[in-house]
Amino acid sequence: MQPIIGLLLLASVSAANYIQQPLSVPSSAEAETDAYEFDWPIQRVAVIGAGSSGLIAYRELTEAGFDVRIFERDSVPGGNWYYTEEVPPDAPVPNAPTVIADFFPSHPPADVDLPYSEVFEDEHDEIWRDHRGPKPVWESLTSNAPSFPQWPWPAGTQWELSHYQLRNYVRSYASYLNINSNDENPATAYNTRVERIEKRINQAGKEQGWRLWLKSLERIGSHTYRATWWTEDFDAVAVTVGKYNAPSMPSIPGLEEWVQRFPGLLRHARQYRRPEAYANQTVLIVGASVSGSEISRDLNRHAGKVYQSFRPDTDGRLHYRLENYMRRIPKNTTLVGEIKQFLPIPEGSPIQSGLVELKNGTILSGIDSVIFSTGFRYSFPFLPQYYDGATFLPHEGSAKSVSPFLPLDGSYIRDLYLDIFHIQDPTLAFIGMTLGTQTFALSEYSTLALAKVWSNMAKLPSSQTMRERYDKTVEERGGYGKHVLFLASIAYLIGWLNEAATTYGGKQVDGLPK
Ligand SMILES: Cc1cc2nc3c(=O)[nH]c(=O)nc-3n(C[C@H](O)[C@H](O)[C@H](O)COP(=O)(O)OP(=O)(O)OC[C@H]3O[C@@H](n4cnc5c(N)ncnc54)[C@H](O)[C@@H]3O)c2cc1C
Ligand SMILES: *[C@@H]1O[C@H](CO)[C@@H](O)[C@H](O)[C@H]1NC(C)=O
Ligand SMILES: *[C@@H]1O[C@H](CO)[C@@H](O)[C@H](O)[C@H]1NC(C)=O
Ligand SMILES: *[C@@H]1O[C@H](CO)[C@@H](O)[C@H](O)[C@H]1NC(C)=O
Repeated sequence: MQPIIGLLLLASVSAANYIQQPLSVPSSAEAETDAYEFDWPIQRVAVIGAGSSGLIAYRELTEAGFDVRIFERDSVPGGNWYYTEEVPPDAPVPNAPTVIADFFPSHPPADVDLPYSEVFEDEHDEIWRDHRGPKPVWESLTSNAPSFPQWPWPAGTQWELSHYQLRNYVRSYASYLNINSNDENPATAYNTRVERIEKRINQAGKEQGWRLWLKSLERIGSHTYRATWWTEDFDAVAVTVGKYNAPSMPSIPGLEEWVQRFPGLLRHARQYRRPEAYANQTVLIVGASVSGSEISRDLNRHAGKVYQSFRPDTDGRLHYRLENYMRRIPKNTTLVGEIKQFLPIPEGSPIQSGLVELKNGTILSGIDSVIFSTGFRYSFPFLPQYYDGATFLPHEGSAKSVSPFLPLDGSYIRDLYLDIFHIQDPTLAFIGMTLGTQTFALSEYSTLALAKVWSNMAKLPSSQTMRERYDKTVEERGGYGKHVLFLASIAYLIGWLNEAATTYGGKQVDGLPK
């Protein structure tokens, strides 16, 4: 069997080719005369999410001397690699607004004193599922062996691993850092979801740092939960929530009616767990990129018939080519073109009587289930004020001087210098948002850059220079789109880190940091 790594490697190699044109590395002289200066000292920092990126961020920021607190909505570290039989809910059609496509922020009643707690009974445990957010991984998924630089895999570890091995590895790193969920480290807050982040206003009425609105959920009986809401203040925030939290469903005529009529039969790839559930069924998979192709392989062993609808890859700018994925689709999966519509099904008739019309006029019939492998959107429900055209009112007393950088369609994030720093206020940073590259390694270098800048061991250029450089690069790359998150690369970050070390001191980075 061809391991999935072949694919991922291909993807990252072509991504690397694409991203090898770095933003110009600032000369030391420029770094000294035209530097961004923070408006307040950075000491206490929040990391949001205990997946691989969050754990790396915790380590590097702690090592750089910051007082770090890490928040994780789930009960354990691992992020993406924490597989559970618990499945996310059906993805709504039409798509939920991107801002709340991951979750709807939960706040205590108005006018209560914080911290505030309330007890809930929930027979179906929906409250817990919504709080933790089950991850988009299926049972047979295999991975390459991405590695934490300071926590290598034992010699002889095979290249292709099960997601269970990845989970255990990520957990072991958390334990090594003393921030696993059973380490009782006060730096950690598991079962705690960040509901909102806003600029904090100090006693002088000036912006200073960030206020986090938090909610923890504790199981206190078999279906009884205690929710507690509170706030904490920080000087800076690293967002490491991952990029596969909010499903993207296509907009196809008739689909909305099918989804409403047949709950549980039209699913998003994030809900896929096991092929046995599709035994002997006729399944239509929509989409044929990385997950779609792998799910097709997995399903095909059990399903009676598999159709897979794909759209030719028209965006030549994108980093990976559809063919690389489609090569893995088994021969007896029937590839079909784009779907034109889901035709109406007479009242009372089952889904199997439904007809799906393709753009070329062909009609598919007898379908038992549909799986939409149509991707994800960047969704940050805790930052509503930064979405384009946001009509969300900030909390009392909070700053109104925000400029949006999150597009409503969730297809990319704007205005991140080095794909990390929010240009308007670099005390807000993102790690692990770049697509199609080696996530663990890129998160490592990105976090080193973050730790250096926040501790003044490296300087960003002035806001104006960041903005000019950023705009110029975006223009050179053909404007906004998914590729906006490929402005930096591992090669570029290494050069940048070494430039900073020459100017400000500290260790040179040579390959992966030890
Ligand atoms: C199907 C699939 C296959 C993949 N295969 C590979 C592979 O083979 N190799 C590879 O390197 N990568 C692979 N990836 C990419 C994978 O996402 C990365 O390896 C890695 O897990 C990214 O880590 P992260 O920490 O950035 O995000 P995540 O692992 O998603 O972690 C984010 C964490 O943030 C938490 N969180 C989210 N919102 C909040 C909030 N509001 N408050 C508190 N906590 C929050 C989440 O619960 C989660 O624990 C795959 C991804 C998918 C979906
Ligand atoms: C699938 O079909 C095979 C062959 O007809 C049959 O033996 C098997 O029991 C079926 N499985 C299910 C789950 O219906
Ligand atoms: C495709 O072929 C494989 C190998 O012969 C077989 O195991 C599988 O059941 C087939 N799947 C479909 C959907 O025909
Ligand atoms: C339309 O697409 C289907 C599935 O790919 C194919 O079998 C059929 O021949 C196509 N029809 C026309 C008219 O091109």
